Amino acid sequence: MSFNLKDKVVLITGGSRGIGLALARAFAAESAKVIITATKEEKALEVAKSLETEYGIEALGLCQNVSSSESCKNVIEAIISKFSKIDVLINNAGITKDMLVLQMADDDWTSVIDTNLSGTFYTTREAVRYMLKARTGKIINMSSVVGKFGGAGQANYSASKAGIIGMTKSFAKEFAARNINVNAIAPGFIETEMTSVLSEDVVSKIKSQTPLKRFGQAQDVANVALFLASNLSDYVTGETIAVDGGMSM
Ligand SMILES: NC(=O)c1ccc[n+]([C@@H]2O[C@H](COP(=O)([O-])OP(=O)(O)OC[C@H]3O[C@@H](n4cnc5c(N)ncnc54)[C@H](O)[C@@H]3O)[C@@H](O)[C@H]2O)c1
Repeated sequence: MSFNLKDKVVLITGGSRGIGLALARAFAAESAKVIITATKEEKALEVAKSLETEYGIEALGLCQNVSSSESCKNVIEAIISKFSKIDVLINNAGITKDMLVLQMADDDWTSVIDTNLSGTFYTTREAVRYMLKARTGKIINMSSVVGKFGGAGQANYSASKAGIIGMTKSFAKEFAARNINVNAIAPGFIETEMTSVLSEDVVSKIKSQTPLKRFGQAQDVANVALFLASNLSDYVTGETIAVDGGMSM
């Protein structure tokens, strides 16, 4: 059994580091054509070049600000003009701006919603046009355990990630007739720069609340994404798969 992703055109938003970079490497290792985006063009180009060198695949690095619908449109047009199709879209770009509700400024609220939730909507709206025409496609949205459970100090982030779970189901229903599967992944706590800011106390509390008693690795998320992008998951849609060491069961 294999993922059969050779020459599939895979877009990963926010692929310059962390989970996005692990996704890019995992798909490159499967000989897919990988497009990664980042807020800084230089960084996107650097990652794409390293993927080409290391895996001998075709890669493309593009500058994208997912919270701008125009930027999302430009990215999808650039991909279509180079590869003529998009087989897999992974809406991975995301940010946190944690703050207790009373101290949460308007900008802390809107920037997280705009990046995580609107960014997923804008990129999908532009990419799915081509998937609908092709009558095939796989879309994977990055939610979070916090989207299911909530988190103190994370009203903005948990609202965005819960919204992604609802939007995933709506997309799945709307696109199902054209053979497009839409699923979400809800990681628990994964070792990346995003979680590197947590204090030792918080880290040990999280570990004690996790049945597997450890943080996950970005590769753990990538493994599930490979399955969701492949034909092995053809009868799975509208689902949110937890990759959280058992935290949310
Ligand atoms: N690390 C975790 O424990 C964890 C847990 C649950 C969910 N997640 C989700 O997984 C995804 C990746 O997380 P990570 O830990 O790798 O984070 P990270 O901070 O290490 O990387 C985030 C990526 O998103 C990009 N990005 C940020 N704003 C952007 C924008 N406006 N436009 C385009 N790209 C943008 C960054 O450049 C970066 O490449 C996020 O959606 C995050 O919410 C992470």
